[in-house]
Amino acid sequence: MRQAVEFKLNGSPVRVEAAADATLLDVLRGDLGVSGARYGCGLGQCGACVVLVDGRPETACALSAEAVAGRTVTSVEGLGTPERPHPLQTAFLDLQAGQCGYCLSGILVAAKALLDRNPDPDRQQIARALDAHLCRCGVHNRILDAVALAARRMREGAAA
Ligand code: FES
Ligand code: FES
Repeated sequence: MRQAVEFKLNGSPVRVEAAADATLLDVLRGDLGVSGARYGCGLGQCGACVVLVDGRPETACALSAEAVAGRTVTSVEGLGTPERPHPLQTAFLDLQAGQCGYCLSGILVAAKALLDRNPDPDRQQIARALDAHLCRCGVHNRILDAVALAARRMREGAAA
């Protein structure tokens, strides 16, 4: 049995006929072809599938599609474009804060949620915000540096 689910994705309204047991990740990747959020563990334990739901990080593999009806979902595709990247994306590129990149879409949206609520986090606060995200490539230090760099640039940009 399928059910209609409507929500806002990256600023645009979407409607899908989702299977009753579909997760948000199934709907994003399968029905909508929005593949930035990745499938890692499928158990809510690695952070690869994290998206923002009403501005808060959620593991899309562990959330039913039905649970986001009427809500706002932001995936990494909603952060920026190649022409107009989000400062986090620019900082990650500048510091080469990634190797295979598999973990990065979840980390980028979680970092955005952090900077939205705290524009000047210290290193411990950044690490805590990203604690649930596994990176098998081990680039944790550069990831923390990149979030701090983006935060500084955004503060400077806001002050300019
Ligand atoms: S795939 Fe969702 S937390 Fe690992
Ligand atoms: S950059 Fe490869 S898993 Fe993080």
